Amino acid sequence: MTDLCLTATQVMVAGSYNLDQIFRCPSLPRPGQTTTGQFEQGHGGKGFNQALACHRLEAATCFMACLGEDASATEIRRWTAEQQLECLWQHSILPTGTAAVLLDETGENAIVVAAGANQHFSADQALGMIESLPDERRIWLLQREIPDACNLKLMSESHSDDIIILNPAPMDASFNSEQLQHVDILTPNETEFEWLLKQVTGMTLRTDWQQMDDEPLHRYCRSLQVPVVIITLGASGCFISMDDARDWPGVSNGRLPARQVSTVVDTTGAGDAFNGALAAGLTRQPASLETALDLAMRAAAYAVSQPGAATAMPTLAELGHHLRSL
Ligand code: RIB
Repeated sequence: MTDLCLTATQVMVAGSYNLDQIFRCPSLPRPGQTTTGQFEQGHGGKGFNQALACHRLEAATCFMACLGEDASATEIRRWTAEQQLECLWQHSILPTGTAAVLLDETGENAIVVAAGANQHFSADQALGMIESLPDERRIWLLQREIPDACNLKLMSESHSDDIIILNPAPMDASFNSEQLQHVDILTPNETEFEWLLKQVTGMTLRTDWQQMDDEPLHRYCRSLQVPVVIITLGASGCFISMDDARDWPGVSNGRLPARQVSTVVDTTGAGDAFNGALAAGLTRQPASLETALDLAMRAAAYAVSQPGAATAMPTLAELGHHLRSL
């Protein structure tokens, strides 16, 4: 059996930055309904949230994104510099990405993203920008808020021993499944997993993934032919499926329960906390998938207990404090 080494020293996050326009309301409006609520603005974007999660958990992190040439971009560059997150910015004539985040009083959300400058992210520019960085084994943490063609280029031009994590969010019919052949760890939620099965295998399954037995669920995961598939299941934790032909010290296929949360405040960014922490966990020594998953579950639980997206990402100290206070 071969062991796929899942440790690296630096995390590269290439992805989106969005300015989140957050509306809190008692319940999410139905089609045709107008409702009132409170408004605030925050930093977000799946790429940015994941990069900040990784950075706050003390992993060497480099974030690459494309912003507009607008006043928001100036403020974003100032804020990220204050956070001491290493960023390689690209610029576009399109406006900085924006997301409308509707949030109900249970913490559930509905999000619409206007990609703006994120659509102009250039993989060539990103690859050029990192040429001067130390040539170490890297983890690439990618999502789907920049074009798939960019992700595919970054994946195919990364070093053969780099680790590639794809969080396939948001998922839709435009997904280029060619990417999967480069991916080491795939982290869909249930809906994204259903889409992936349909796109890759043609199977249309509408089922309760939380109730499905582990064995058939593992077989469905294996049909995607990615060494590690982690399906995030919200408050039910996650399901892990690993390539049967390899040796995975410390982890086995099956479910991991979610960490306890006393009050769910805002679920926005919980998946991002999970992904950022997973990547950060793989840079820690001694690194293992087992400890990285533990960090990811703890970070996701922390994120739902806090308001906002990027600002809900925990530090190591906050994780320790949060667990002690439960
Ligand atoms: O995952 C949460 C993020 O999705 C938000 O910050 C929003 O910007 C959208 O990208």
